[in-house]
Amino acid sequence: MDHFLYRDGALYAEDVPVAEIAAAVGTPFYVYSTATLQRHFRLFDDALDGIDHLVCYAMKAASNQAILKTLAQVGAGMDVVSQGEYLRAKAAGVPGDKIVFSGVGKTAEEIRVALSGGIRQFNVESEPEMEVINAVALELGVVAPITVRVNPDVDAKTHAKIATGKSENKFGIPISRAVEVYARAAALPGLEVIGIDVHIGSQLTDLEPFRLAYQKVAELTEVLRAEGHNIRRLDLGGGLGIPYHTQSNDAPPLPVEYGMLIKHTLGHLGCEIEIEPGRLIAGNAGMLISEVIYVKSGEDRDFLIIDGAMNDLIRPAMYEAHHDIIPVVEPAAGIESQPYDIVGPVCESGDTFAKQRDLPPMAAGNLIAFRSAGAYGAVMASEYNSRPLIPEVLVNGDQFAVIRARPTFDEMINRDSIPEWL
Ligand code: LLP
Repeated sequence: MDHFLYRDGALYAEDVPVAEIAAAVGTPFYVYSTATLQRHFRLFDDALDGIDHLVCYAMKAASNQAILKTLAQVGAGMDVVSQGEYLRAKAAGVPGDKIVFSGVGKTAEEIRVALSGGIRQFNVESEPEMEVINAVALELGVVAPITVRVNPDVDAKTHAKIATGKSENKFGIPISRAVEVYARAAALPGLEVIGIDVHIGSQLTDLEPFRLAYQKVAELTEVLRAEGHNIRRLDLGGGLGIPYHTQSNDAPPLPVEYGMLIKHTLGHLGCEIEIEPGRLIAGNAGMLISEVIYVKSGEDRDFLIIDGAMNDLIRPAMYEAHHDIIPVVEPAAGIESQPYDIVGPVCESGDTFAKQRDLPPMAAGNLIAFRSAGAYGAVMASEYNSRPLIPEVLVNGDQFAVIRARPTFDEMINRDSIPEWL
């Protein structure tokens, strides 16, 4: 459930008409709902009720300062994967002991920044990285809390580009080598082994791959404890999918079901549980709003050429992802839909959001909304074709605020500098 609904024939974000925001900030833009963000966080938090836990929002999904603060206010920790994300989390007021550092290629500098600023734990992804964390910790005179990310070799049954838990993927260390790697970690004086980490992929629409992975983590916990390691925290990653098709009955499992699975597979171990959801928290809490520039009749189809493009929302071009697209003015009863190819102005055929999508008859100047665009939307945007990054807006009840302004063309151009020989 989100807070983007039609009211009296107009699409609202909470209590604000989307058309009113468009008039104020211009299109295209992203709009997020505070109530939806917080509701989704609480669904996870409640799902783990009864066990010691922390929900660390995977901020790669949407990392605007205002979004981070909105989630931090209701108790979220953060999962970060770069120095930039770490510093963003800190800037939003998240304390270091609620920040988890994931990612396959943490540099010594990133590790230094996190160890100096405070960190809950590093999720270590390789043996060479473990050695570097140890060296940096010793240099700083501190001990780094770590888990090791194990790759359970489980098929997450999701899009190949976002599956991470198979042995052919670059993530984690093979679970079969865990005993050896943990022994090495325990021997390094700059490290304190506190737990195990796993993350098998994103947009999972079935609980079974989670079950298989978590059972393997449960077994590994017992094995490592028998080896003398004090395994007390399990980081279970993110990945729970969201419904991208509002009209379909085929919705992914709910956070409460996911929480039950966690309790069943791991609850008996007495470990603190950490999860890192990104998409489920931000995805359906955001929409991309765009305006129709032209309606163009092709030989065998009509095109809606809109002012948003693949540089603003890359997911359809990159993953063949589906986003529901709805008009901002609710179609009157009895109006017949017609199919459109919905495309952006970028000079690539891949700049196509949807083919033969049914919409009511559209005209230049009409607004449309891409649903489920809150996660991996704005954060993956680029300035391709010299299109400045688009604004982000946050709604809270009947108020809205621009949380990232649209840069001017001059600002965009003046980031370049000209060498003196030119
Ligand atoms: N933890 C780790 C270690 C991750 O790599 C990810 C996502 C998450 C948590 C959060 O997963 P989520 O709950 O959001 O599924 N750009 C792609 C998604 C990439 C996901 C990368 N890792 C997309 O637009 O579908």
